[in-house]
Amino acid sequence: MASLWGGRFEKDMDDIVKEFNASIGFDKRMYNEDIDGSIAHVTMLAEQGIVTLAEAEQIVTGLEKIREKIKSGEIVFTVDDEDIHMGIESKLIAEIGDVGKKLHTARSRNDQCQVDGRMYLKKEIREIVHRLCYLESVILEKAEKYADSITVGFTHMQHAQPITLGFVFMAYFQMFRRDIERLMDAYERMNLCPLGACALAGTTLPTNRARTAELLGFDAPTENAMDSVSDRDYSLEFLSDASISMMHLSRWAEEFVWWNSQEFSYIAIDDSYCTGSSIMPQKKNPDMAELLRGKVGRVYGDLMQLLTVMKGTPLAYNKDFQEDKESLFDAVDTWKASIQIFANMLDKTEFRMDQIEKQFAKGFLNATDIAEHFAKQGIPFREAHSIVGQMVKACEQKDCEFEDLTEEELQAIDSRVTRESLGDISIKACVDARVSFGGTAPSEVRRQIKVGEAWLADI
Ligand code: ARG
Repeated sequence: MASLWGGRFEKDMDDIVKEFNASIGFDKRMYNEDIDGSIAHVTMLAEQGIVTLAEAEQIVTGLEKIREKIKSGEIVFTVDDEDIHMGIESKLIAEIGDVGKKLHTARSRNDQCQVDGRMYLKKEIREIVHRLCYLESVILEKAEKYADSITVGFTHMQHAQPITLGFVFMAYFQMFRRDIERLMDAYERMNLCPLGACALAGTTLPTNRARTAELLGFDAPTENAMDSVSDRDYSLEFLSDASISMMHLSRWAEEFVWWNSQEFSYIAIDDSYCTGSSIMPQKKNPDMAELLRGKVGRVYGDLMQLLTVMKGTPLAYNKDFQEDKESLFDAVDTWKASIQIFANMLDKTEFRMDQIEKQFAKGFLNATDIAEHFAKQGIPFREAHSIVGQMVKACEQKDCEFEDLTEEELQAIDSRVTRESLGDISIKACVDARVSFGGTAPSEVRRQIKVGEAWLADI
């Protein structure tokens, strides 16, 4: 089949060239955007007197028919269609005849694929933000539920200080909040319409790019035609945002894996989010958490792929740019699914406070609190730190906790130290007292939850 661009050619493409050249296999995903873009374009062409109103109406009706036929499966694209833009245009011409040949006036596939890409990505961003907001709402609910529940805080995977579980949830809340904000920021920047940039240099025809931008829901047309057809920053920003957010998901997924281990037993992941073993009958594996941890690799790969494609490409359009789609689609699909899976898994996970409490006796979680009590009593913090360090040594020798050190043992370490001077070092007192802004005290976590709720309600 001769291509729509075949005028100057004497030979058809080799079959393997057709296959290699075609993007229809993946860009058909954007057929709705392509049709919406064409309808806006031809509406503008009619308003500007470039085509007649009757011609525009015929084209719009034809495009809607094509949309229905694609949706119903009546139209099946093949590599002969090359890409979604040529595919729809040739089906339109077959549907409505020669008038269909007027659609491609004052545009090029170079701007067309960009308007499709931006509209597609805008739609997906709205969905991803929606999903991230759902995740945030699950996190807030859990944070409220566990605002007073105490758990172990780690640094270097070593027991560090007691914290509340609500505090942990709110830490992740902040990460996903930044992810949402970053994404909304990228959305604003990509919300400019490249349609009408044409091949690279604009057109001699009296188009109105502001009108197509308006019809398609963009803030304004892009400023420079050459940049418009060769810019993939918007996809790269999205892929960067996706990589960061997937990294956040994978960090929490990793925590789920070890929280769920026999050694920790902090949580019980719901059966519906686990799988069994084909040989070991007792196994209940946290596969979803592991998969989430692993999926981030694909998304990093997607980002690296497009960065590498774009590197060193001269202005303006180059065919290399067709390689901007599959990785983008992969990142969209992976990120969307990952958020959903994680949010549901979190929602259904049981936190086993009875198991968590068993860990409080290990690792001198209240050591910093004693040092801070000493500091309040006028002992310089560096000295207080050293005194508590010696207390830890004494406890380790006796295999006991701070509370078990005798008055004599304390005095032997430092004459300023008495049992009384240790203050209230129960785990609960330690947590309750950490009221500094952003700290772990339940009162402070509840403040963070309120701020988070107000922000979420405002999106
Ligand atoms: N399928 C192409 C892409 O995705 C559309 C633009 C092709 N333009 C061209 N002049 N070959 O990049």
